[in-house]
Amino acid sequence: MTKTILRALAGETLPTPPIWMMRQAGRYLPEYRATRGEAGDFLSLCYNPELAAEVTLQPIRRYGFDAAILFADILLLPQALGADLWFVTGEGPRLSTIQSQADFDKLGRGEMIHDTLNPVYETVRILSKELPKETTLIGFAGAPWTVATYMIAGRGTPDQGPAHALKAENRALFEKLIERLTEGTIDYLTEQVKAGAEVIKIFDSWAGSLKGEDFDKYALEPARIITSELKSRFPDLPVIAFPRQAGDNYIGFHEKAGVDCVAIDDSVSAEWAAQHVQPGGCVQGNLKNTHMVTGGEALVSETKRIVKALSNGPHIFNLGHGITPDADPENVKLMIETVRSCG
Ligand code: CP3
Repeated sequence: MTKTILRALAGETLPTPPIWMMRQAGRYLPEYRATRGEAGDFLSLCYNPELAAEVTLQPIRRYGFDAAILFADILLLPQALGADLWFVTGEGPRLSTIQSQADFDKLGRGEMIHDTLNPVYETVRILSKELPKETTLIGFAGAPWTVATYMIAGRGTPDQGPAHALKAENRALFEKLIERLTEGTIDYLTEQVKAGAEVIKIFDSWAGSLKGEDFDKYALEPARIITSELKSRFPDLPVIAFPRQAGDNYIGFHEKAGVDCVAIDDSVSAEWAAQHVQPGGCVQGNLKNTHMVTGGEALVSETKRIVKALSNGPHIFNLGHGITPDADPENVKLMIETVRSCG
């Protein structure tokens, strides 16, 4: 096995960590903006296999990252289940809301999702042919809780208030939605792996707003079910979980969810993660994405600090959250050079 990402995920400590970046295909790159313009809009780009593969490859060509992440979005699954989805420029996603049993009953289930998602699997097939042989292809989906927060509110919310409210007021309905999403996510990811995804990442961007027992029930448990089901179908498949802002709940997450890698955000230190999270397996993260905007000596010293702190165990270098549109592409280059010169 030669791919560095796969070696780190298998638990190997490498001389320098392999590297990729959340949202590495995105608006900070002029070539991405050009291809999105060609596609028309963001969703048309997601559902155009040739162009989605092209934007996935752009950061690989420009920077030589060790992994490529499929270009798609976590909100394609709700759309495939029958929710309306659109993006308002400068504001973000909008969806038809799930507030009642009647709203829930409009959602489909089972094989029907593939009618919408087939172009995504085609993107994966193109990528598995076109990627350089040393580059690992990562497929992904949103975690049920995070996807549910968007479906319930019909948009992004600062505190996931509407989802917490539905959980408090109609727990049975809330749990049915989590179950439906868990099932759909397994079907969706299964097809991505069959098409050629070598690693799966589960994005739970809003996991941190679940506390106590709710975290275990709605963040940890769905991640565990999805992972064990995927691994029963594909025993060698590595899985990365990203329960963002989980804090102390990062401790033991590898073992409890059965995942190979836990991605950490920037609210915990790399030193803390080395001590409390890395004993469970590979750790990925945690450089503040603002360094991609500001660059300079702070970027270099923070990068070195993280590499050093996590150097005694398996580590994949990444940001603590996605790179933002105002980032400078030169800073990405500087980060990669710094990581690769750390050995
Ligand atoms: O390069 C990659 O990381 C792969 C593609 C990818 C996108 N979204 C493309 C995208 C991935 C893995 C995601 C995950 C995603 N999508 C998450 C989880 C990770 C996170 O950031 O917390 C979430 C919560 C979403 C939902 C979503 N998609 C929102 C809230 C938005 C609007 C905010 C924004 O950044 O504009 C999107 C749009 C989106 N998804 C863009 C991209 C490149 C920007 C759209 C554009 O080009 O206009």
